Amino acid sequence: MDLSNNEIPDTPDELKSEEKQDRQLGVVLFALGRSGMIHFENLLRTRRYRLIAVVEERIEHATQILKDAFMEDVPVVLPSGATKLLEDPEVGAVIIASPTHYHFDTIMMALSAGKAVFCEKPLGPTLEKINECYAKAEHCCLPLHCSFNRRFDPSFIEVRHRYLKGELGVLHHIKTVSRDCPPPSVEYLRISGGIFHDMAVHDLDIVSWIVGAPPVQVFVMAYCHLRKICELRPMDVDTVVITLKWADGTLGTIDLSRGAVYGYDQRLELFGERGMLQAHNRGGLSVEQSHTFEHGISRSPIYYSFPQRYSEGYAASLDHFCDVVFGLDKLNVTRDDTLLNTRLAIACDESLRKGLPIRLDGKPVMSEFANYQLT
Ligand SMILES: NC(=O)c1ccc[n+]([C@@H]2O[C@H](COP(=O)([O-])OP(=O)(O)OC[C@H]3O[C@@H](n4cnc5c(N)ncnc54)[C@H](O)[C@@H]3O)[C@@H](O)[C@H]2O)c1
Repeated sequence: MDLSNNEIPDTPDELKSEEKQDRQLGVVLFALGRSGMIHFENLLRTRRYRLIAVVEERIEHATQILKDAFMEDVPVVLPSGATKLLEDPEVGAVIIASPTHYHFDTIMMALSAGKAVFCEKPLGPTLEKINECYAKAEHCCLPLHCSFNRRFDPSFIEVRHRYLKGELGVLHHIKTVSRDCPPPSVEYLRISGGIFHDMAVHDLDIVSWIVGAPPVQVFVMAYCHLRKICELRPMDVDTVVITLKWADGTLGTIDLSRGAVYGYDQRLELFGERGMLQAHNRGGLSVEQSHTFEHGISRSPIYYSFPQRYSEGYAASLDHFCDVVFGLDKLNVTRDDTLLNTRLAIACDESLRKGLPIRLDGKPVMSEFANYQLT
């Protein structure tokens, strides 16, 4: 892969200036579900944000969470009251962690009210709707950040940094393993948009971001093992292998599962001309025991799920958004990135349905040997 157009990223431990710490951004948080709770806890840990209100359908649930955090003075408002809430000039931004099908309307409402937007993926149900969100943000001169939080993970940043510095030479193969734990609820799965839009987008984003170019071809094989997923209408799948190919011959594989029983399995590997770079699984403890008899070696468990594994990434992503709102940085996830990820997820869906490789550049799919080169 040609690296000439890739900027080498800043190191993750870049120091915060005093200016950054001095200003406070008033925010409304939409939803206190799984991802909303991550953002809530991060908001509590920083002085850069002031939580002005929470919008939730489950009023009692949200009120209890605020009470437990000694934040009873923060009001909880039903979604029907959100428009009024956004008239408050103290609110500079919104953080949207409500279910996927509410994202588009909430983004448009917030931008119309003059608020910067941080939103969980995806921003909208179609490429057209996502484009509309960015057009509106541009028109209003407001930042719109789509939370592809894995870009903020310190290990992934380090792998990318070393690759862009040229430590691997020519990249031959990029690989991710992304196995969820625990499998999400049926209620969540039913409105998730399917495994490609809900889960694979994170991996598609990471591989394109690291390689520095979009893949030109995807091919998917998949199966459904978990009964609750097989019974969904329309049926989803829980075990997927996506193969990818870039224009210069770089190959990629994404290995997904909805249900790993041993924890949240998240690995990244780059293999190239001069060696291999890996980001391994992580866990709370790093204890390893060697046994005398037949058991071999046992290790402490890896992190249970996404809030633990990507905790630093979620916090850094929120910090980045604050920098962007205060004009100290530019968005690290662009309109093109977000659209590309959705385009790739659509291509994966199509590949699975048709049982065929799908080209993203409109060219015909060639035999693998057509561009096989002897060196
Ligand atoms: N970036 C990530 O790693 C990541 C991880 C998980 C989920 N997500 C995304 O976050 C979003 C939410 O997923 P989740 O797992 O937190 O779901 P969840 O089901 O755990 O929580 C959703 C919450 O939204 C509340 N809610 C429902 N309608 C609402 C409305 N109109 N306004 C405000 N709140 C409303 C529900 O009461 C619930 O508390 C999804 O879009 C998902 O794609 C991202």
